Amino acid sequence: MKDYFKLHEWKIIEEGFDPQENRMVESIMSLGNGHMGMRGNFAEQYSGDSLQGTYIAGVYYPDKTVVGWWKVGYPEYYAKVPNATNFIGIDVEINGEPLDLAHWQVNEFRRELDMKEGYLFRSFVAENEEGLKIRVKSRRFLSMACREVGALQYTIEPVNRDIELQLTPYLDGTITNEDANYDEIFWEAMEAEADASPRKNCGQGFLKIKTRKSHFQVATAMEYELSIPATTLTSQCEQKYVSNQLSLSLTAGEEVTLNKYMAVTTSRDYEGEEIDRQAKKKAVEAKESGWQQLFQQHAAAWEQIWQEGDIEIEGDVAAQQGIRYNIFQLNQTYTGHDPRLNIGPKGFTGEKYGGATYWDTEAYCLPFYLNTRDNEIARNLLLYRYRHLEKARENAAKLGLEGALYPMVTMNGEECHNEWEITFEEIHRNAAIVYAIYNYIKHTGEKDYLAEYGMEVIAEIARFWEDRAHFNPRRNKYMILGVTGPNEYENNVHNNWYTNRMAVWCLEYALETIEYLKEEKPAVMQELWNELGLSAGELEKWRDMIDKMYYPYAEEFEVFEQQDGYLDKKLLTVEDIPAEDLPLHQNWSWDRILRSCFVKQADVLQGLYFLSDQYDISTKKLNFDFYEPRTVHESSLSPCIHSIIAAEIGYEEKAYELYLRTARLDLENVNNDTEDGLHITSMAGTWMAIVEGFAGMKVMEKEEEENILSFDPFIPEQWESYSFKINYRGRQLKIEVTSEESTITREEGEPLQIIFAGEKSEV
Ligand code: BGC
Repeated sequence: MKDYFKLHEWKIIEEGFDPQENRMVESIMSLGNGHMGMRGNFAEQYSGDSLQGTYIAGVYYPDKTVVGWWKVGYPEYYAKVPNATNFIGIDVEINGEPLDLAHWQVNEFRRELDMKEGYLFRSFVAENEEGLKIRVKSRRFLSMACREVGALQYTIEPVNRDIELQLTPYLDGTITNEDANYDEIFWEAMEAEADASPRKNCGQGFLKIKTRKSHFQVATAMEYELSIPATTLTSQCEQKYVSNQLSLSLTAGEEVTLNKYMAVTTSRDYEGEEIDRQAKKKAVEAKESGWQQLFQQHAAAWEQIWQEGDIEIEGDVAAQQGIRYNIFQLNQTYTGHDPRLNIGPKGFTGEKYGGATYWDTEAYCLPFYLNTRDNEIARNLLLYRYRHLEKARENAAKLGLEGALYPMVTMNGEECHNEWEITFEEIHRNAAIVYAIYNYIKHTGEKDYLAEYGMEVIAEIARFWEDRAHFNPRRNKYMILGVTGPNEYENNVHNNWYTNRMAVWCLEYALETIEYLKEEKPAVMQELWNELGLSAGELEKWRDMIDKMYYPYAEEFEVFEQQDGYLDKKLLTVEDIPAEDLPLHQNWSWDRILRSCFVKQADVLQGLYFLSDQYDISTKKLNFDFYEPRTVHESSLSPCIHSIIAAEIGYEEKAYELYLRTARLDLENVNNDTEDGLHITSMAGTWMAIVEGFAGMKVMEKEEEENILSFDPFIPEQWESYSFKINYRGRQLKIEVTSEESTITREEGEPLQIIFAGEKSEV
């Protein structure tokens, strides 16, 4: 799949139509604006293979859980992201024959995603069996400036004959999900209004549907205008479908353009009639401002994003296109305007993973938004978890534990994943929530967050670890049994090094935060102390756990042992696996995977990455040399962490090789699953591999002073130069690296002490 898309610095271009690849391309060409998103489906009907997908942020359907054997504690539902009203649809009929690219011959086909201005363009010439040729050009965007609004422009020109044309702009709520456990229809009808008196050159439609069980109401309004007045008009209004049919005659070479403006509002943002009113009003306003102005506002919003968050790479167009694509998709998925929203591993690009939130957000995505957008955007990611604290307490209580256990997979704070080894055992996710708070403060210096929101979350998570670990008098150590670490190719293991280490780190950070607040904001701390019911005895227990946590260690290799008993396995390396057995998850039985030493994704190394300041280069090297050859990287979240550590320990070629594994993961359909949707959270990892890996960016913890920003750049041989900007404590810094020199420039804000390539200096 390497060369399917043309190389271009700012565009993703498909030339020629290959129906076999349509689903994959639909994922790639997805658009989104944080409020909603859609796959790159055709506007006109298409009877070939396609995954229709329009998704609205925060709207989910609680699909009844399917399991083989019910276990107490399983969540009742698995949240699905429902495919919502199709609002881009325009059926086209030419001389009574539907335009359907599965039946017409397709020539000069081009689908193009423009990342600079954030729109999707498509053009083709279609020919029917009678030799009639039609040229179509279409363009669409979901506005980054007015989030509830999207627009589509559709132009048709008969090339060689006069035609009778019928255009049917519609809103269709009869949509279904492919991923539905019991083939249920997720939506029920509410209101539908077709235009009672459409004029010859414009009209409207309105549809409101609501999800069953979760009762999210979604209203969609459309307004359209036609460049040549229609001769006849009819409309259709059914429970979940509205349309207007516009007929007109065109002579060969004559063009007609239909502009369709849509607004989508939900009961998440408005109540009662206001939902309808706002949708209608926004669609009218969009039409009144007109395509050009609406598009300009949208493009200007993208310009701002690129100004702050672009990475430029010279000398390697494929790398440039790859990283821009990742940055583009990350910004389409999450815009930070609403703390009730989060980042699904597939964003708005498919049904898989149900649009739910995973630990991916805290562990992988946060640094991207922290560095490239305003602090408020990353802060909203933290607030999302703060808002779910009560649910996290309930979640811990369901498992018979004190404190808060954040879910592994969630839409609204409730756990909604039902495999026991993940739901019950992958408790390490709790540490990532605390780590994100620490990371945010380290980066922004906004310690106020601790008093306002952070302390409660940190304390309740500490309390969870306190209860989940137990003291083993035989060994005089605390232990955490029956867990799954980040490496999901091991389940129900005892003393996963990463989990134990991060649990202790959480306790340390909790104590440190309490100390800090006692000192700086004693009244607030006293209030929190009472509210949380903390006691000196409890803190004493945390200290004892810190002193006496058990960590498995492999003496003979001088490495942290991934978990008890890991070393007893047959210690092969990935090179020993026959090529046809890879990927293991598609070829080996599950028990064989569990028995093997092969690591799905960074586990011990994930800990060394998070707690980088606490481990020296030699420790990192020993662990990398031991675990990297045993890691199959069958999670796309894995190579970036390995790449960052490789860069730090001086394995530059290895760092680049690992970076390449995910840099163009979807553009080259490396895992052969892009058709299901994009790997959004791993895209953030690719960004980290450049900024934290190649450029070596870190916010160092220094005992004698506040945190200090440091860089230690290198450039992959294949590149001529790369540069990027970051926001750091009110400054905008630009880092430029060539094979000859590395520079850092302060573009905005006060001077700053940094460490650059080992030297302390001021920018
Ligand atoms: C990984 C998890 C991750 C999930 C969603 C899984 O394959 O093992 O760490 O949270 O995908 O991206």
